Amino acid sequence: MAATTDVEARRGAFSSRTVFIFAAIGSAVGLGNIWRFPYVAYEGGGGAFMIPYIVALLVAGLPFLLMDYALGHRFRGSAPLAFARLRRWTEGIGWWQVAICLAIAVYYAAVIAWSIRYTGFSFTQAWGDDPESFLIKDFLQVSDGVSFTVVPGVLVPLVLVWLATIVIMALGVQKGIGATSVVFIPVLLLAFTALVVQAVMLPGAGAGLDALFTPHWAALAEPAVWGAAFGQIFFSLSVGFGIMITYSSYVGRKTDMTGSGLVVGFSNSGFELLAGIGVFAALGFLAQANGVHVTEVVEGGIGLAFIVFPAIISEAPAGALIGVLFFGSLVLAGITSLVSILEVVISAVRDKFDLTRVRATLLVTVPAALISIAFFSTASGLNVLDIVDHFVNQYGILLVAVVSTIAVAWGVRALPTLAAHLNRTGSLHLGRWWYVLVGGVIPVALTYILVQQLIADLRTPYGGFPTWMLAVFGWGIAIATIVFGLLAGRTRWREGTAVDDFDADQDRQEAA
Ligand code: ALA
Repeated sequence: MAATTDVEARRGAFSSRTVFIFAAIGSAVGLGNIWRFPYVAYEGGGGAFMIPYIVALLVAGLPFLLMDYALGHRFRGSAPLAFARLRRWTEGIGWWQVAICLAIAVYYAAVIAWSIRYTGFSFTQAWGDDPESFLIKDFLQVSDGVSFTVVPGVLVPLVLVWLATIVIMALGVQKGIGATSVVFIPVLLLAFTALVVQAVMLPGAGAGLDALFTPHWAALAEPAVWGAAFGQIFFSLSVGFGIMITYSSYVGRKTDMTGSGLVVGFSNSGFELLAGIGVFAALGFLAQANGVHVTEVVEGGIGLAFIVFPAIISEAPAGALIGVLFFGSLVLAGITSLVSILEVVISAVRDKFDLTRVRATLLVTVPAALISIAFFSTASGLNVLDIVDHFVNQYGILLVAVVSTIAVAWGVRALPTLAAHLNRTGSLHLGRWWYVLVGGVIPVALTYILVQQLIADLRTPYGGFPTWMLAVFGWGIAIATIVFGLLAGRTRWREGTAVDDFDADQDRQEAA
């Protein structure tokens, strides 16, 4: 028992449930909420999308979140350690999640760096009359294929993002991640609310909101719309890729985890809805100002934040303020998510090799920063980012989510133990309904979605990119994360980590 508690004391912890909830909301609310959700919702049938979205949240997102919490909170370890303690053969799933997080962190930092630059550009409207050509040609200097020509305008903020992140991570779980989230999340909420209030008062805002919320019921019959809703929920809630396992391992043993899960889940979706309202109100304004329909100004992904928003900023009264609030919000939301993604990797390395916080931070973040800078401060950054994002989300996050539910529910048959653990202190009682959702509905729904996506990606090359680029940065990285998981899962644990006799120790502590 001593070995377990020793390790735990050195791992770090959040000082209270409130700090944990702030950190978990900080992780969930990210780039996915602000620019991804509004567009996905619009594409998925507007108001009608709320149905698959809410279904995905209730039947998959929240139940999965609780499984992640149960694994981290009961087994008190990073993703690989928690899985190893669950059953030695499942450890590779944790390392697979670690590799996915590393791949995401490398490009996520780049989008934060762009947002920092665009916060500055908002004052001078540096993009002039043509934000699209400014983004592609002047700012990112995008070239076809791969080019390692350095783009200084991206290099400088990207180095700053990594330096700030390294400092936060080196400060540790409470003083770094916890403290940053406690400050950033309220500021983010204030800034974003101010943005939404300003956006809904712009002329034409009503037409934008109509476009977002008018239901197109036919969309509900399309499997792709349901797929988009489940994909959005998993990415946005930060479930399935190790983050919530890691964070919950830093939470006091007597904490109500189920109640915390509900707070985090509904806060994340509430923020997402707020983002949808703010973004579409602004789009309605832009459409009216140009005398076109809202459909003609909507763009997805990177285009929405870095092409359409600059156009709005140029035309709106107090545009600079809108720009600072919007891009500043992306920076705040992005940083608190980036630290959570990196913590999955740092925590795993610490658990496995017993390194100090600072050493593990440097061992993980310095190579990650160098890769991020090499790929994303160069002229091929945009294309590589687009490909990695698509493939890692689909064949990383969703695939590892399916595999982990099957392993936990059917391979180890651990759901009753995990439910009993959460029920001991939780305010929401987990019963059979939870087993059915985690062991049945989630793997079946996600498998169906993945198969649909696979067929689409095999039929049409994603984004029209050349086959070799998709093979290297898409399929290649997705497969590499799996191979890494399989290999790392077979490595030995050092003495004192209590991988094999953990259950008995834990039962004794819980009974005490
Ligand atoms: N949950 C984070 C986001 O929404 C990763 O961006």
